[in-house]
Amino acid sequence: MESSSSSYSPSSDSNFGIKLIYKGRSEIIEVSTATNGLWIHQQTLQVFGLADDDNEIELKILYKGKQITSDRGTCPFAGGISTSKNTSRSKLPKIMVIATNTSVVRELSTKRSDPTIRGFDQEKEVIEKRRKADVSQKPWAEGMVQDKEYKFCRMEACTWQSFGHRSTEKTPHAFHSIKLLEKLATDPGIVAIMKERELVVGTLGELDPIDDRVMKKKEESSGGGCVLGYNTNRGLRIDIKLRTDDLSGFRSYSELASTLIHELSHNWVGEHGLLFWTNFAQMRAEYLYVHARLRDSSLIVRGKTTAELAGLDRAKLDNVFDFIMYELVQEMGQHGLHPNMIEVPIRQRIRELDESRKNGGQGQRLGEATNKIDRTSTIVNNSIPAYSTRELLLAAAERRARLQQNKKG
Ligand code: NI
Repeated sequence: MESSSSSYSPSSDSNFGIKLIYKGRSEIIEVSTATNGLWIHQQTLQVFGLADDDNEIELKILYKGKQITSDRGTCPFAGGISTSKNTSRSKLPKIMVIATNTSVVRELSTKRSDPTIRGFDQEKEVIEKRRKADVSQKPWAEGMVQDKEYKFCRMEACTWQSFGHRSTEKTPHAFHSIKLLEKLATDPGIVAIMKERELVVGTLGELDPIDDRVMKKKEESSGGGCVLGYNTNRGLRIDIKLRTDDLSGFRSYSELASTLIHELSHNWVGEHGLLFWTNFAQMRAEYLYVHARLRDSSLIVRGKTTAELAGLDRAKLDNVFDFIMYELVQEMGQHGLHPNMIEVPIRQRIRELDESRKNGGQGQRLGEATNKIDRTSTIVNNSIPAYSTRELLLAAAERRARLQQNKKG
């Protein structure tokens, strides 16, 4: 007696066995010259355990290069199969089974048509999937998120496609750009600035390195301008140049945060005048003080202090004034200005922040300090006034009105 694993005997003379192969598994079913396609389909679902109410399975059953359709019509084996009784299992007619879960297919196709994923752009779909998978990994401590009201509404990275001919070069994946933009948007220092100044930015995006070069050329011909960031329509959209010039990596985080604050300062002031730099420096001071306070609290996130995550060393946080002045000498210098011209309002803001810090002040204190200047509208030593938020908004409104006049005239 031969073992059943090496040979197969049908139950009657008119029947014969066929071997169904699906994902490396094989099962033998018995058919006859009268068996129709529908029955074969039903048997296939059953033997491979594919019959499931939750899933809609679309089967493709292939025999001798042809598809066996699931109908009651003609029998695929009507001509019979020349097999003897006790056929070796390996010699049974082989039928290939391909099963597709159509509920999964449908799910994918609806995902593709989701407008937030932009049509059939596969790259974006991949980014979205990875982003969701990685969502538990917050860039800062638990609970360090954007404010519900004053925030960046959406984030947009440059995709490989935007790089055009550079797509083969080694440069971080767009997925990492999104992570970096999220880190910037949820940076507790940035969140404090956004809240304190009640800012809403439509899109925080990555400045396309290719576009950037075009822009750079434009600026070289007209003189000045920001190469590292771009503010469209007073905060409707802010783009930051995340990548280094050779595209091999990202710029340092502390530099990116500074650029973002620069662009946020453009929400009020368009030109790089003293008003702009005063506003920028005061925001910068607020940013650094938030991180100094967090350092005082000794909060540790994945083995790092928040200051370390922000790329701010002790020297910077202990000497905020000197650090800001140092930054400003370089940045203002490009516009023919020197921070000595705005030293007083910077010192004043830092004094307020120092007092607030000594009093153990949290975010609220910053707001109180601002209101204080609002009421008194301080002008110190006949020098540059310490601009309050209201004054800056007013100045921006006046400037807009002036521009409107000029356009009309
Ligand atoms: Ni600028």
